[in-house]
This record gives sequence, C-alpha cells and structure tokens, in this order.
Amino acid sequence: MCGIVGYIGEKNCVPFIIGGLKRLEYRGYDSAGIALVQNQSNRVIKSVGKVAELENKVLSENISGKTGIGHTRWATHGIPNEINAHPHFNRDKTLMVIHNGIIENYAALKHNLKEEGYSFISDTDTEVLAHLIDNFLTKGYTFFKAVQAALNEVEGTYGIAAIYCKEPDMIVAARKGSPLVIGIGDNENYVASDVSALVSFTSQVVYLEDGEVVEVHKDKFFVKDIADKEILKETHEITLKLDEITKGGYPHYMLKEIMEQPESVTNSLRGRLLFDEGTSKLGGLIGFADRIAASKRIIISACGTSWHAGLVGEYMLEQFAEIPTEVEYASEFRYRNPIIKPDDTVIFISQSGETADTLAAMRETKLRGALAMGICNVVGSSIARESDTGVYIHAGPEIGVASTKAFTSQLSVLALITLLIARKKHLSKVDGQAIVNEIEQIPSKIKKILQLNYEIEKIAEDFVDSKNFLYLGRGYNFPVALEGALKLKEISYIHAEGYPAAEMKHGPIALIDENMPVVVIAPKDSVYDKVISNIQEVKARQGRIIAIASENDDEIDSLVDYSIKIPDTIRMLMPILTVIPLQLLAYHIAVKKGLDVDQPRNLAKSVTVE
Ligand code: AGP
Repeated sequence: MCGIVGYIGEKNCVPFIIGGLKRLEYRGYDSAGIALVQNQSNRVIKSVGKVAELENKVLSENISGKTGIGHTRWATHGIPNEINAHPHFNRDKTLMVIHNGIIENYAALKHNLKEEGYSFISDTDTEVLAHLIDNFLTKGYTFFKAVQAALNEVEGTYGIAAIYCKEPDMIVAARKGSPLVIGIGDNENYVASDVSALVSFTSQVVYLEDGEVVEVHKDKFFVKDIADKEILKETHEITLKLDEITKGGYPHYMLKEIMEQPESVTNSLRGRLLFDEGTSKLGGLIGFADRIAASKRIIISACGTSWHAGLVGEYMLEQFAEIPTEVEYASEFRYRNPIIKPDDTVIFISQSGETADTLAAMRETKLRGALAMGICNVVGSSIARESDTGVYIHAGPEIGVASTKAFTSQLSVLALITLLIARKKHLSKVDGQAIVNEIEQIPSKIKKILQLNYEIEKIAEDFVDSKNFLYLGRGYNFPVALEGALKLKEISYIHAEGYPAAEMKHGPIALIDENMPVVVIAPKDSVYDKVISNIQEVKARQGRIIAIASENDDEIDSLVDYSIKIPDTIRMLMPILTVIPLQLLAYHIAVKKGLDVDQPRNLAKSVTVE
C-alpha cells in the first residue's frame, strides 16, 4: 500500500517522480504528493486522487529540482484529502517525509511530542515521524542519525524516504516491513517501493532489508542498521522490460493480463515438465523435495486470490500427494496459536511476495521450525527472499489490482509441486505421464477459451444492473466459485458470494428469485450429476443461470439461461480453465458499468499493512 519514489542527481527529478508514481499507482491512488529541495529551500505540492491530478498541478506550477521525493497514497489514518497526503513535514517545513506502512504506536508518540510543544495538522501516523525526526534534529543529531534514532522509537511497518533542506545533498530512506529498493544510476540515484518505477532509468538495484537505513547521495550510498552497524549490500541486475509493464494496446491492464494467460502459464511451466519420468523439475525445491514429501502435514497460508489458489492446492495435494493439507487465511493464522510442528511444510502463496499478513505468518512459521515454502510472482520480494525454499510462478508483472494471470500460474505451479511430491510417494510413472500430458495442453486450451471473449461480453450486457450474484461450484471448482465472486465484487462493486453448490440448500437458496443471477461451474466431471441437480433447484426458483460447461455438453443448454462452453481436462487442472470465463465476465460487467477496473475504489494491489 502506498508507493514511494525519490531521486538525487544532476537532472530535474520531476519527470522521474511523476513517471515513477504512475508506475506505482497500483499500490494506492487516494492522493499523491511531491517534495523538492533546492538550494536549501523546498517545494511541496499535493493533490487528492490519482497521480494525473498531481501531474497537472506540477505542470501548471512548472517546478523543478535535483533532489525530490514523491508518494501515492492508500489511506490508512485519515481521509484522502490534501492535508493527509504525503509528504509530511516538520514545524519549520525543512524536513519532508513520505511513508508506506503503519506506525502502530503513533498515538503514544504523538502524545509525547505534543507534550514537547509539537502541533499536528493531519490525521496521519506519518506526521508523527516527521516531528519525531525533527525532535532529534533539534537535539543536534545529523539528519541520518535523527532518522535512525526516530525509527528506534517506532513500532510498526515502514518504507520511508526523507529529505532535509539543511542537508540537501542526500535522501535518507529506511525499511521495515514495506519494500524499498535503491536504483543505481550514473551520477544519480533513485529510491522506490519496487523496481517497476525504475525500469526506464536503471537496471542496477539494491534491495533494502528490514531494519536497514540508507543515506543516498547522487554518487554513492551507505547502508547501516538502526544500531549504526555498517552493512555491505549486493547490487542486482533487473531484467524487467518496459513492455511488460505497459498496456500494450489493451484498454486495461486487467484485460491484457487475462489475454496473456496462454503465455504466462507457459512461462510457469517452462522447463519444468519431465515427460519421460512423468514428474516435474523445480529448481527451488532441489534438496527439499524429500523433506516435503515426508511432511506429516501441509499448511497453505495466503490472502485473497492467493488463498483461493491455496484451496485448489489442498484438493490437489490431498488427492495425489496424500498428505493432509489445511488452508489458512494468513491474517488468522498469524494471530492464533497455530500448532506447527518441525515435520510440517507450510506453503505461503503471494503474487506480490509483500503481503503483510502472509509475510508475518511465514516469519512465525520459521520461528517454530517448520519448512517455509514460498510461491511468489515478484522476483526478489520479501516472501521469496525469506522463505526456506520456494518456486516462482513467472507470470510476469501483474498490474491490474484484480489478480488474474497470477491465479492461473499459481494453480499451474501447485500442480507441478503436487506432481513432484506425488511421484516421490505413490503416483505411478504412467499416471504421472498422463498428468504431464494434460498440463502441457493447458495453454492451448486457455487460448481457445479466450476466443469466447466477445460471447462473454454479450452475456455481460444483461447483468450490468444486477445487484447480487451467486457463484456455485463443487470439489475443485468450489474455490473457483469463490474466486469468480471476488473478481466481480472487487471491480464491479456488485455483491457476490461463492458457495459449494451443495451448501446452497443450507441457506443461500433463500436468496434465489428471478432477479438473482447464479453462475454455476458445471464441467462434465464426477460430480456433474450433482451439480445438475443444484441447477434444477435454482431453476425451480426462477434464478437466472449462467453455466460454465464442457464443450461437448449439449444437455445443459435446456436447463440454463446462458452457457459458456470450454474444453475439458483432468479435474485437478480444471480450475485453470473454469476461472477464465469468470474473469472475463467480471471484467466486461465492470467496463459496461463505466468503472475503473484497473484501480477499483478502496483497493491496492499489494497489501503491505495489516
Ligand atoms: C485479488 O484480486 C486481490 N486484489 C487480492 O485478494 C490479492 O489476491 C491479495 O491481496 C493477496 O495478494 P498477494 O497474492 O500479493 O499476497
């Protein structure tokens, strides 16, 4: 949540700051702000809403400077107005601070600072940081040491960057719990929440770790921990390309990412299928696969869409690897007293690799001695770096707030992990080869489903005014029902619920009348007849049914109002296919409602606060 950028060098920093904030806008878009320091004086401009609003203001005021910071906000403390927008400053406005995270003890710190005569103009937790640093500056600390000392008193999470008019040749930045990366240029350096802001400027980056504070000059930087111990950092080369983070001719990132799925799933599978042995090869699990196969239990912990992927993983792992598997919301897992044994494997699924709850759940797991495995998309993200072992999904950057291609890649990787573990246990080579064959055909089947885009768009027209939706699925497709409902909710603001189809009789059936659209995931599998009975029950109460059905299923047409026909595969892989029409349905309904599908209200792509 919140994106931060900073620049120090010889050029005007404004184009980088505005461009970088636009790239980071997926992290929050409630308000934005910029602060520049030049010749010991400063300039701060803030605006409510998206970065484009800030850009207009900045252009009309024609500002420039060689040192600056910028912020795009996802509001936690205080409504999205200009006063609460970052940067925040100290009382003589010489120090400017931007922050991503939550200062948990801000109320106590604020109280103490007020006692010392500080007054506050905003409702944010971040303003406390500005005054706290100021408090140390007034005691004679240098800028860097004042930041260190202030952070020593702070509880919570932060990625911060600060500039100070009285020491204008540096940016001081720090990280704890919120990502931060330093971009290395030629006589210029950068700070950003993630590398997407840096792509057009440099390929050399340094990832900050929790507890590190950096002093960035135009031609050098120093990293220390809060206790002032020097830390030597490694420089990494980023491989991200600009065309991976632009819309590439599509009206929205979400549509681009849906349409990319044949390639993104291919990338998740690339080089990982072993046809002859009927298994998979996952570099990250080398040296760990036997321990995982010997696990007494597997726990999967994640949030949102990644949690839905985990539910599908539970079905896969129990069916094929025959290991008892539980799936937990990371936010619940971290705050109860989970029973984790050293012979458990705990899998953390996260597209961003930065989700605060998932990261905290992983750290708790490591403390308790179980094996922590990450399944992440963002290379170099916190979960990827801190897990004991892991597998990247290689879906490529996902920018639309609604997760689409990451989900199908997470499922693909879960299938590969299942195959690997199952083959180490009871699965025969022949059965493994059959699974490998089916996995290999998935990208071309996705391509076929995507050809239904126009047909699905037409169906969407009839549901633009719906107020509620129900999604039903059984077995492997129950998590898909949850995922379809989540997609619709988050981008169209239509209330939607996902249920196991058989559970409908235990309550939700009371909601069904002629105004209730019901999406039923009904491929021809072993529970098909049961799902057909559920369809009959909905029909008997005049519900309007959209069925996701197998391409050879003609019987279903007379039972439902709309049917979307897709190719079949084996049950464990079916969710990778059945979810695609649901992504397109949600997308088209939201577009037809005139909503901002890439940046839906109240949401942010990467949830780095609790
Ligand atoms: C999905 O569409 C959501 N925007 C959200 O639920 C997301 O999946 C969740 O926040 C978890 O994110 P992660 O995969 O980056 O950890």
